[in-house]
Amino acid sequence: MFDFAPDAALAKPEAYRQLSVAAAALTEGESDAVANMANLAALIWQYVPGLNWAGFYRVVDGGLVLGPFVGKPACIRIAFGSGVCGTAGASGQTQLVADVHAFQGHIACDGDSASELVVPVHAGGRVIAVIDLDSPTIARFDAEDAAGIEALAVAIGAAIAG
Ligand code: SME
Repeated sequence: MFDFAPDAALAKPEAYRQLSVAAAALTEGESDAVANMANLAALIWQYVPGLNWAGFYRVVDGGLVLGPFVGKPACIRIAFGSGVCGTAGASGQTQLVADVHAFQGHIACDGDSASELVVPVHAGGRVIAVIDLDSPTIARFDAEDAAGIEALAVAIGAAIAG
């Protein structure tokens, strides 16, 4: 039904540009935040190679609560300020962690995770969710990945605001 075909040969900036275009197309005209997050997690999984977990934590009552994702079952609630996700949620800043075992307070949901990228999603002037990507490869993510997922977060803010 949705026939997106990421090209593995593309340079990262172009691949991420195409991901944001696909995300906008996929969520256009749909106001259900859960449905949109579910499809976006699947889309990220298709476009971004080398992941073992990709999905959302939503800001609910001042903490993070698990949202739609692809990967192994994960921690349901994360306090603001805890772990990589809680740090991104509390600070509103992207967290790019080359080695999760060196990040004090990292929350190990999947023992395979070695590096992590967490990007806050803003809407209405506040953080409403974070996008969390995990990889089993040390230093899987770089500044181009961070910039690409940050652009995605801007593109999808309204679609997941609910
Ligand atoms: N590692 C994250 C927890 C979420 S899982 O990776 C899915 C953290 O430290 O916040």
